[in-house]
Amino acid sequence: MASQDRSGQDRSGQDPSGQSWDAGGYAHHARFVADFGLPLVDLLAPCSGERVLDLGCGDGALTETVAARGATVIGVDASLEMVAAARARGLDVRCADGQALPFHADFDAVISNAALHWMTRPDSVLAGVRRALKPGGRFIGEMGGAGNVAKIGEALNSALARRGVDPAAVWPWYFPSVGEYRAKLEATGFTVVRIELFERPTPLPTGMVGWLATFAGRFLAALPADQRDSYVTEVADALAPALRTPEGNWVADYVRLRFVATLSPPARPIRKPVAPQAQAGDYADLASRA
Ligand code: BEZ
Repeated sequence: MASQDRSGQDRSGQDPSGQSWDAGGYAHHARFVADFGLPLVDLLAPCSGERVLDLGCGDGALTETVAARGATVIGVDASLEMVAAARARGLDVRCADGQALPFHADFDAVISNAALHWMTRPDSVLAGVRRALKPGGRFIGEMGGAGNVAKIGEALNSALARRGVDPAAVWPWYFPSVGEYRAKLEATGFTVVRIELFERPTPLPTGMVGWLATFAGRFLAALPADQRDSYVTEVADALAPALRTPEGNWVADYVRLRFVATLSPPARPIRKPVAPQAQAGDYADLASRA
């Protein structure tokens, strides 16, 4: 295994999911990610002076929006490339693995957009979010949910299997159902205010080849370099009938899981009610009036 720094990033520049990130390419192919995250900022409703953690902040586009609403925001991302891009916006961003968050009761809220599905140890993520929040803190998130990129994933897996690679050993994503994620939130001590799964067919500004170049790094890395171009062509060709419009535009089969949860305040110790004790003289006034 390649040696890793504290963020879990190895020397090849891959984050713990095995994906490499290129901030320029991300901005070009996937600007829509932060745009779709804007409703989350409304759900967060950050107040001036609040401390907010943006978990998996990427290049900081959404972090910047939260900061503009008056909160003090710290971003965390596992990719050094993305951290550098976010810092270039003047944001306070740390490089850390979201599955081992290094915070303790530091934040009023945690927000996470399109990042949690890259973290395949959700229990570790939730434990870290819980530790990072102050009592009563809130956790607002959106991620790929059950059925997300089902067609894309199937095409990636089939083309990999045809090349003799086991797709299960490569699959880099975690797409939970409502029931599964609710149970995990509750088991960690959160109260779920709302949680929903919904389809969001997502236009891809640079097509399927651009999407694969940006997000399918783990699949490509499983193949010898001289097979990668033909693999991408085969996957895109397989997907065209389902995901390319007659006008030639690509629309990805995204399904989002969105939730708002609050950390239950610590339970108060149950005390026996103390019966008021009558003191001598308490009723003197009444007696004098009798
Ligand atoms: C998503 O945002 O749903 C997603 C992005 C890249 C790869 C897989 C899923």
